[in-house]
Amino acid sequence: MAANWKMNKTVAETQAFLNEFIPVVRDVKDVEIVIAPPFTSLHTASAILKNTDIKLSAQDVFYEDKGAFTGEVSPAMLSDIGCKYVIIGHSERRQYFKETDEIVNRKIKASLKHNLNVIFCIGESLQEREAGKTFEVLNRELTEGLKDVPAEGWVAAYEPIWAIGTGRTATPEQAQEAHKYIREKLSSLYGMAAQEIRILYGGSVTPDNIESLMRCNDVDGTLVGGASLKVDSFAKIVKYKK
Ligand code: 13P
Repeated sequence: MAANWKMNKTVAETQAFLNEFIPVVRDVKDVEIVIAPPFTSLHTASAILKNTDIKLSAQDVFYEDKGAFTGEVSPAMLSDIGCKYVIIGHSERRQYFKETDEIVNRKIKASLKHNLNVIFCIGESLQEREAGKTFEVLNRELTEGLKDVPAEGWVAAYEPIWAIGTGRTATPEQAQEAHKYIREKLSSLYGMAAQEIRILYGGSVTPDNIESLMRCNDVDGTLVGGASLKVDSFAKIVKYKK
């Protein structure tokens, strides 16, 4: 279960969240918990999470190791401060910052080289879904994004853009249909290893819909935006089985 805080929370707010959240989920053993605060909170969060099983993630990364790239952060820098994961190819980055499949692919390869696990995001817009192009978009994003990428070190996250921040969650049937397609595509790329690749669902996940989404065969976890900003709701999502 991964929390994507997006551009939310100051350092003080990050500290307050984590200090309250850690004891609440201490008894959770069978769920991998990942939290992705903004860059400015990573260092502080890393220190607080040090003796816990909760993994730290960044929300983006650049593909070069170092150099004259003003404003960017490298995979080595993220590893250095204790990040175990990085989110790559989020639809907001593709949409607002013009990230292409090729850039996403370069970022994935650079991150794996530095032992950062990748949360690789894909998903169609409402317009694409209504035009019957969902599978075509997923196929392109997977084919291009995963060029020369091995089967290990990353998870996929299916986030239909029309479900992000809208309160309009994909139904379990819609989620399963897309996840099944993704699994089949991964099988064609990686053979049997595709069964081990986790596929997360993201888009208006809440404590109310988590159970029905997690019941889908090919939904292995979730990437949560809005509902991850409050301790109570993210803890309920993490503990959905109880
Ligand atoms: P919401 O949960 O706010 O819809 O955001 C989903 C998302 O984009 C997570 O990466």
